[in-house]
Amino acid sequence: MSDDRDLVDAARRVRANAHAPYSRYHVGAAVRGQSGAIYTGANVENASYGLALCAERSAVAAAISAGEKRISGVAVVTATSPPAAPCGMCRQVLAEFGDDDLPVALTNDAGERTDTTLGALLPHAFRSGDLT
Ligand code: THU
Repeated sequence: MSDDRDLVDAARRVRANAHAPYSRYHVGAAVRGQSGAIYTGANVENASYGLALCAERSAVAAAISAGEKRISGVAVVTATSPPAAPCGMCRQVLAEFGDDDLPVALTNDAGERTDTTLGALLPHAFRSGDLT
Protein backbone atom coordinates (compact mmCIF):
# COMPACT_ATOMS: atom_id res chain seq x y z
CA MET A 1 0.00 0.00 0.00
CA SER A 2 1.82 3.07 -1.23
CA ASP A 3 -0.74 5.61 0.05
CA ASP A 4 0.53 5.16 3.60
CA ARG A 5 4.13 5.90 2.71
CA ASP A 6 3.94 9.03 4.86
CA LEU A 7 3.01 6.89 7.86
CA VAL A 8 5.86 4.45 7.27
CA ASP A 9 8.33 7.26 6.65
CA ALA A 10 7.31 8.94 9.91
CA ALA A 11 7.85 5.71 11.84
CA ARG A 12 11.25 5.28 10.17
CA ARG A 13 12.30 8.81 11.10
CA VAL A 14 11.21 8.68 14.74
CA ARG A 15 13.04 5.39 15.25
CA ALA A 16 16.23 7.45 15.30
CA ASN A 17 15.02 8.97 18.58
CA ALA A 18 14.59 5.67 20.41
CA HIS A 19 16.10 5.66 23.89
CA ALA A 20 17.21 2.03 24.04
CA PRO A 21 20.65 1.88 25.67
CA TYR A 22 19.77 -1.39 27.48
CA SER A 23 18.24 -3.57 24.77
CA ARG A 24 19.80 -1.69 21.86
CA TYR A 25 16.60 -2.58 20.03
CA HIS A 26 15.30 0.56 18.39
CA VAL A 27 11.63 0.81 17.45
CA GLY A 28 9.74 3.55 15.65
CA ALA A 29 5.97 3.71 15.37
CA ALA A 30 3.47 6.02 13.74
CA VAL A 31 -0.31 6.12 13.97
CA ARG A 32 -2.80 8.08 11.92
CA GLY A 33 -5.60 9.74 13.83
CA GLN A 34 -9.16 10.22 12.60
CA SER A 35 -8.24 13.76 11.53
CA GLY A 36 -5.64 12.37 9.15
CA ALA A 37 -2.73 13.71 11.21
CA ILE A 38 0.21 11.46 11.98
CA TYR A 39 1.64 10.94 15.47
CA THR A 40 4.90 9.22 16.20
CA GLY A 41 6.59 7.44 19.06
CA ALA A 42 9.86 5.69 19.80
CA ASN A 43 10.60 3.20 22.56
CA VAL A 44 11.76 4.84 25.77
CA GLU A 45 13.74 2.58 28.12
CA ASN A 46 14.78 3.14 31.72
CA ALA A 47 17.58 2.03 34.04
CA SER A 48 14.74 0.31 35.89
CA TYR A 49 14.25 -2.07 32.98
CA GLY A 50 10.60 -2.91 33.57
CA LEU A 51 9.56 0.68 32.93
CA ALA A 52 10.34 0.52 29.22
CA LEU A 53 7.67 2.18 27.09
CA CYS A 54 7.08 0.65 23.68
CA ALA A 55 7.09 2.80 20.55
CA GLU A 56 3.53 1.88 19.65
CA ARG A 57 2.08 2.98 22.99
CA SER A 58 4.18 6.12 22.85
CA ALA A 59 2.63 6.97 19.47
CA VAL A 60 -0.90 6.19 20.66
CA ALA A 61 -0.40 8.40 23.71
CA ALA A 62 0.71 11.27 21.47
CA ALA A 63 -2.35 10.89 19.25
CA ILE A 64 -4.86 10.72 22.08
CA SER A 65 -3.13 13.54 23.96
CA ALA A 66 -3.52 15.69 20.84
CA GLY A 67 -7.26 15.10 20.85
CA GLU A 68 -7.68 12.18 18.46
CA LYS A 69 -10.39 9.69 19.39
CA ARG A 70 -9.77 6.91 16.87
CA ILE A 71 -6.82 5.51 14.96
CA SER A 72 -7.04 4.50 11.29
CA GLY A 73 -3.53 3.25 10.54
CA VAL A 74 -0.35 2.03 12.20
CA ALA A 75 3.24 1.59 11.00
CA VAL A 76 6.09 0.01 12.94
CA VAL A 77 9.78 -0.02 11.99
CA THR A 78 12.44 -2.23 13.57
CA ALA A 79 15.65 -3.93 12.46
CA THR A 80 14.04 -7.37 12.64
CA SER A 81 13.69 -9.62 9.58
CA PRO A 82 10.99 -10.54 8.86
CA PRO A 83 9.49 -7.35 10.33
CA ALA A 84 8.44 -7.66 13.97
CA ALA A 85 4.86 -7.16 15.17
CA PRO A 86 3.74 -5.15 18.21
CA CYS A 87 3.88 -6.87 21.60
CA GLY A 88 0.72 -8.10 23.25
CA MET A 89 0.34 -5.09 25.50
CA CYS A 90 0.56 -2.71 22.53
CA ARG A 91 -1.99 -4.76 20.59
CA GLN A 92 -4.47 -4.35 23.43
CA VAL A 93 -3.79 -0.59 23.62
CA LEU A 94 -4.33 -0.29 19.85
CA ALA A 95 -7.63 -2.16 20.26
CA GLU A 96 -8.90 0.62 22.54
CA PHE A 97 -8.78 3.06 19.61
CA GLY A 98 -8.89 0.93 16.46
CA ASP A 99 -11.25 -1.59 14.87
CA ASP A 100 -10.36 -5.15 13.90
CA ASP A 101 -9.72 -3.98 10.32
CA LEU A 102 -7.17 -1.37 11.46
CA PRO A 103 -4.27 -1.69 8.98
CA VAL A 104 -0.88 -2.36 10.58
CA ALA A 105 2.24 -2.08 8.40
CA LEU A 106 5.24 -3.95 9.78
CA THR A 107 8.50 -2.83 8.22
CA ASN A 108 12.21 -2.92 8.81
CA ASP A 109 15.23 -0.87 7.93
CA ALA A 110 16.01 -3.25 5.04
CA GLY A 111 12.76 -2.23 3.36
CA GLU A 112 10.86 -5.47 4.01
CA ARG A 113 7.17 -5.07 4.72
CA THR A 114 4.33 -7.19 6.04
CA ASP A 115 0.78 -5.87 5.96
CA THR A 116 -1.63 -7.12 8.56
CA THR A 117 -4.56 -5.93 10.64
CA LEU A 118 -5.22 -5.50 14.32
CA GLY A 119 -7.85 -8.24 14.16
CA ALA A 120 -5.26 -10.68 12.80
CA LEU A 121 -2.78 -9.69 15.51
CA LEU A 122 -5.33 -9.73 18.35
CA PRO A 123 -8.39 -11.85 17.60
CA HIS A 124 -11.30 -11.56 20.03
CA ALA A 125 -9.91 -8.35 21.53
CA PHE A 126 -11.36 -7.25 24.83
CA ARG A 127 -13.08 -3.90 24.33
CA SER A 128 -15.27 -1.49 26.28
CA GLY A 129 -18.39 -3.21 24.94
CA ASP A 130 -17.46 -6.29 26.91
CA LEU A 131 -17.83 -4.39 30.18
CA THR A 132 -21.49 -5.15 30.58
N1 THU B 1 9.44 -2.72 22.03
C1 THU B 1 8.64 -1.83 21.37
O1 THU B 1 8.91 -0.63 21.33
N2 THU B 1 7.54 -2.31 20.77
C2 THU B 1 7.14 -3.62 20.77
O2 THU B 1 6.07 -3.93 20.30
C3 THU B 1 8.04 -4.64 21.31
C4 THU B 1 9.18 -4.12 22.12
C5 THU B 1 10.63 -2.19 22.71
C6 THU B 1 10.57 -2.28 24.21
C7 THU B 1 12.03 -2.32 24.56
O3 THU B 1 12.51 -0.98 24.62
C8 THU B 1 12.70 -2.98 23.37
O4 THU B 1 11.75 -2.92 22.32
C9 THU B 1 13.07 -4.43 23.62
O5 THU B 1 12.01 -5.17 24.10
